[in-house]
Amino acid sequence: MHALSTIPCLPEATSTPLGAEVYRGLTRMPKRLSPWIFYDQRGSELFEAITELPEYYLTRTERAIFAERGEEILEAAGAPELAMIELGAGTAVKTDVLLEAAVRRELAVTYYPIDISESALDEAGRRIGERLPQVAVEPRLADYTRNLGVIPSPDCPRLVLYIGSSIGNFEPAEAAALLRDLRRRLAPGDLLLLGVDHVKERGTLLRAYNDAAGVTAEFNRNALCRINRELDAKFRPGLFQHRAVWNERESRIEMHLESLIGQEVPIRALGLTASFRRGESIHTENSYKFTPEAAAELLKRCDFAPQASWSDARGWFGVYLAEAA
Ligand SMILES: C[S@@+](CC[C@H](N)C(=O)[O-])C[C@H]1O[C@@H](n2cnc3c(N)ncnc32)[C@H](O)[C@@H]1O
Repeated sequence: MHALSTIPCLPEATSTPLGAEVYRGLTRMPKRLSPWIFYDQRGSELFEAITELPEYYLTRTERAIFAERGEEILEAAGAPELAMIELGAGTAVKTDVLLEAAVRRELAVTYYPIDISESALDEAGRRIGERLPQVAVEPRLADYTRNLGVIPSPDCPRLVLYIGSSIGNFEPAEAAALLRDLRRRLAPGDLLLLGVDHVKERGTLLRAYNDAAGVTAEFNRNALCRINRELDAKFRPGLFQHRAVWNERESRIEMHLESLIGQEVPIRALGLTASFRRGESIHTENSYKFTPEAAAELLKRCDFAPQASWSDARGWFGVYLAEAA
């Protein structure tokens, strides 16, 4: 005789990516949400605003490396025809710099931005179409952690851009799994350009995620606004405090939303009430920081052969070019 197991009947919304992630993240201890949840239309706008903040050195430093070294980077890519594929492209403002360098070198470039934010992809396509009509743009709306199959297989070499320190949002084992999956989908000789934020003085790191104008705090709380709107929840974002801390042992900045009071929050579409103790936090993002050695080591472990790297004068940010080995 077999005992009948009971399969709990979960609301339909738990089978959508957002519903599943929120259900999983808020029923575990400690509570966690994945950073992709930030990026609805408002979140993408707020991220753009973050990139302009005086404290947020990352975007401006990486952009300056591209402006100074873009031609060199593309020379290393070495082909007259190139498919430039970007994971988590956002509005691709910084990528313009590399695309402009490709146009100056008279390369025939097709640009494939991949992102989960439709509004960001629309904006990228519109702007590049206006500014660089020589570049063909083929956007792909997809979650690259689930569907790297969207990477195209054209008859020309591929240069995959994974820039903006996005690899830092993953736990080390997840980051390696993602890069290995990417490697399996590339052909020998295809290239990866990885942009990583370097380990540096604590105060500089903390200020970048705790800006005086409070834009990062709004970006963090936007995850709750999105859950309210899309999952009929009743979060009061003002009752959650943005907190960013440097975890030196793990070499990462952590972002949290800390409950200011004990509270119960209904999330109706999930048939769930999330309970918070005063001071309890939802861990919403990690941003791992690398030494140059750790970045090169990660690439090698994932079967990419480092070819060249570029940094700024202060060594704050690193751009690593590696070949699918
Ligand atoms: C930190 S922004 C970086 C944007 C741009 N690459 C840059 O360097 O400024 C992260 C971007 O990745 C996108 N994103 C985050 N997780 C994603 C996922 N799993 N699949 C596809 N796009 C994702 C977000 O929508 C957002 O546009």
